[in-house]
Amino acid sequence: MNPLIFQISLPPMSLKQDNRFQAIIAHAKEYGFVFPSSEIYDGLSAVYDYGPYGSELKKNIKDYWWKSMTQMRENIVGIDAAIFMHPTTWKASGHVDNFSDPMIDNKDSKKRWRVDHLIESYANTLKEKGGEDEKKAEQLLATMDALLAKDDFVGLKNLIEDNKIKGPISGTTNWTDIRQFNLMFSTQLGSVAGDAETIYLRPETAQGIFVNFLNVQKTSRLKIPFGIAQIGKAFRNEIVARQFIFRMREFEQMEMQFFIRPGTQKEWYEYWKEERLKWHLSLGIPKESYRFHNHTKLAHYADAALDIEYDFPFGFKEVEGIHSRTDFDLSNHQKYSNKKLTYFDNEINQHYIPYVIETSIGLDRMFLLILSYSYDEEVINKEDGTKDSRVVLHIPEIIAPIKLAVLPLIKKDGLPEIARKLIDECKPYFRCFYEEKDTIGKRYRRQDAIGTPYCVTIDHQTKEDNTVTLRYRDTMVQERININAICEKLKERFII
Ligand code: GAP
Repeated sequence: MNPLIFQISLPPMSLKQDNRFQAIIAHAKEYGFVFPSSEIYDGLSAVYDYGPYGSELKKNIKDYWWKSMTQMRENIVGIDAAIFMHPTTWKASGHVDNFSDPMIDNKDSKKRWRVDHLIESYANTLKEKGGEDEKKAEQLLATMDALLAKDDFVGLKNLIEDNKIKGPISGTTNWTDIRQFNLMFSTQLGSVAGDAETIYLRPETAQGIFVNFLNVQKTSRLKIPFGIAQIGKAFRNEIVARQFIFRMREFEQMEMQFFIRPGTQKEWYEYWKEERLKWHLSLGIPKESYRFHNHTKLAHYADAALDIEYDFPFGFKEVEGIHSRTDFDLSNHQKYSNKKLTYFDNEINQHYIPYVIETSIGLDRMFLLILSYSYDEEVINKEDGTKDSRVVLHIPEIIAPIKLAVLPLIKKDGLPEIARKLIDECKPYFRCFYEEKDTIGKRYRRQDAIGTPYCVTIDHQTKEDNTVTLRYRDTMVQERININAICEKLKERFII
């Protein structure tokens, strides 16, 4: 035990949620997790770059998902399809005609808002007031859901006007009518003017899976039920892109399409709903931080859909979608391509177009979830009556960017050499970090701030009896342990 520290307070809830979110954004930048894109030119709205620790954390989340969805399952394989696809793909998928959001413009500020976001944000202000206003907010959201489900834009505009919802910038109620805006980015293929063909940056990775359905099924000799998984970039021209990396214009998705016999979609939908929640909980995140939200307005391809929502600092919001996509995509690709996309099921001696259950999680949103869950400002009461504080990221250790920091107490007397030797032993198995500058206390704080679960300090006693101090991030407990036991003790813990 560290004799100096006898109590750690648990204050994450003591921070006001708004401040907490701002603190997380600032922390992510200061410690090399996330930077605004092209910041020297003042950034690009809703586009972000991942720094050294951010890219490491992001890769670990990907690996954790990929392993659980492919390696651990015999009937799911992965692919890596191109971002550009034949333009007819998006006609067949329905994205050209249907991938749009209802928007409304404030005539005074000239700013455009997604209608559901505008109403939701007004409902949140009512909720914060509590009492009757809270009930009014629930009623408002229920009415909005019903109107959205019917695409009743006149009704939605009336709802905004009846509630006197103001533009967040202008503070006025001077609204245009509601119109639909397509969210796909388009660009030109071909360099010769006139020869150009309009193509789209994919708004979801799923279509790369659908168009490869038979290639994959045949080459991997898969029998239904089976899945195809993919991780990749997607692009959406989000009109109101706010909340840091929650809603971006360029982002990554981790998607899996599970191909099943028609008529079995209800049971597989339930199965994947539970499996995916288990995946989230397997990281040690408490169940109370999650909830399911069933869709009332279904996407153009779905016969059932739900969101797995997480309690972010700005409230419960979607992190993952589970969609029962029927045979919509494959049937339409068959129709538009004139290529047969049926599967022969020899157990029932029938040809059919499979039904699909999709699991779709945003990698960047999962990253934000991990930051939101991990970030903590702690006050430490010391034995001498004084207080200390630290900012710590309690990142689940299996996905932490750095697993072990090795710190020689001073940079002489052979201590750095011992530290380097330990790193050489550990680095084939997990990511290590070496640092010899500053006091040991400052170095511990820096590792806490990037979420390193273990620190080892090499001191003069190490030279005498081969022991080192192993320090645990979450409890700050320290123990003396033989240096030869470190690698063996830790490496099992980090197998993704
Ligand atoms: N293939 C189905 C699909 O794309 P979606 O609900 O539109 O469904 C799936 O998106 C997930 O992708 C969401 O749950 C979210 O995590 C992530 N996502 C969607 N739009 C995003 C955006 N603009 N920025 C970051 N992540 C986004």
